[in-house]
Amino acid sequence: MNHGCLISGSTGYNNLIPVKDNLKKEKNQLKPIPTKTNQVKFFTTLAPPLAAAFLLFSPICVTPVSSAQTLDILRGASLFRQTCIGCHDAGGNIIQPGSTLYTKDLQRNGVDTEEEIYRVTYYGKGRMPGFGKECMPRGQCTFGARLEDEDIKILAEFVKLQADKGWPSVETEEK
Ligand code: HEC
Repeated sequence: MNHGCLISGSTGYNNLIPVKDNLKKEKNQLKPIPTKTNQVKFFTTLAPPLAAAFLLFSPICVTPVSSAQTLDILRGASLFRQTCIGCHDAGGNIIQPGSTLYTKDLQRNGVDTEEEIYRVTYYGKGRMPGFGKECMPRGQCTFGARLEDEDIKILAEFVKLQADKGWPSVETEEK
C-alpha cells in the first residue's frame, strides 16, 4: 500500500513538471525537456526504498549466519556420503524400507528429533550398526571407523534438516 502510494504519487508529480518546464522552455530556447528534474525526483522518491530493498536482500546481511549453516550442511552431506549413503541413499533405506529417513517414518518410529537420530547413529538399532566411539555392545557397532561425537551431532542435524525439507539433493565438493 505504502509502495503504491509512493510510486503513483511520484509519477503524478513528475508528469506535471515536464509540462510546466516544456511551456517555459518553448518560450525561451525550445530546448528539449530537461530531464534533470525528473531524475532528481526519481532519486529522492525511489532511491530510499530501492536502497532499503537492496540492503534487505543483500547477501552481506545474512552471510555470517548462512555461511556457518552452509558449512555444517556441507560437512553433514559429506559425512553422510561417506558413512550412511550405502544404506540410506537419498534418505531411503535399502535394508528396511519402513525405516527411511523421511519424516513420516522417523515420526512413526519415534526418531524424529535430533537427539533420537543422534542416539540411533551412535548406538545403532536393529540391523543398523552404531558409529559412536563408545558404542556397545560390539556386535551392534560398525566394524569400520567410528565417528567423532561432533560428527554424529552434525549428521543428526543434517538428517533432521533434510527430513524437514523432503531430502533435496545436496551438492558436495567431493563426489
Ligand atoms: C548397513 C546399513 C546402514 C548404514 C550404513 C546406516 N544405516 Fe541407518 N538404518 C539402517 C537400518 C537397517 C535401519 C532400521 C533400524 C531399525 O529400525 O531397526 C536404520 C535406521 C536409521 C534411522 C532411523 C530411521 C527410522 O525411520 O526409524 C536413522 C535416523 C538412521 N538410520 C541414520 C543413519 C545415519 C545418520 C547413518 C550414517 C552415519 C546410517 N544410518 C547408516 C541401516 C543403516
